[in-house]
Amino acid sequence: MTYRIAPSILSADFARLGEEVQAVIRAGADLVHFDVMDNHYVPNLTVGPLVCEAIRSVCSVPIDVHLMVKPVDAIVPAFARAGAGIISFHPEATEHVDRTIGLIKDCGCKAGLVLNPATPLVWLDHVLDKLDLILIMSVNPGFGGQTFIPQALKKLSAVRERIAGRDIWLEVDGGVKVDNIRAIADAGADTFVAGSAIFRTADYRATIGAMRAQLAGRV
Ligand code: DX5
Ligand code: ZN
Repeated sequence: MTYRIAPSILSADFARLGEEVQAVIRAGADLVHFDVMDNHYVPNLTVGPLVCEAIRSVCSVPIDVHLMVKPVDAIVPAFARAGAGIISFHPEATEHVDRTIGLIKDCGCKAGLVLNPATPLVWLDHVLDKLDLILIMSVNPGFGGQTFIPQALKKLSAVRERIAGRDIWLEVDGGVKVDNIRAIADAGADTFVAGSAIFRTADYRATIGAMRAQLAGRV
């Protein structure tokens, strides 16, 4: 199993964003997770394509854009132009899920579908083969630093079964820490978003290393 760690810059020091991005990449990040919130679909407001474009030149790993915006389609080409490698969205936030997936791919990005804690897996039924990534929210979207919702473990296992060997990444987002990452991997996740667990520690390399040690079963 290939595991990926995706630090969420939501918990970074935004006054030094470029340095923070470079620091987590030096510390071993596989992706940089970029949370886009619109104060409409979620009760918080963060960053848009301008900031994505700004970090692009210092970001040598794919930018994993998590759209928490409604509507979705109008902003997709802007993020593709701004350097997104993956663009994920919530099905409740768009009128036509299949069309939005197609739009993301036509823009040259990988496409991901994000399921909130209360969003059923039925959304995957007719689009699974078009997805590059499924993101299971283990908190309700909108804020960093929330507590992992244990129900997400069962959901990850169920999605892992549905993936059934397809080349689809299974990502988890919210409350991922050194002390629960092993159990989350055992449930089926291969890609781990972690914001506060990484950026609120002094030594990013040590924290990402501790996560990898857990994933490798070395502890
Ligand atoms: C929450 C965001 C997350 C957030 C995770 O809506 O999608 O990516 O940054 O933060 P932590 O890891 O602190 O729970
Ligand atoms: Zn996120």
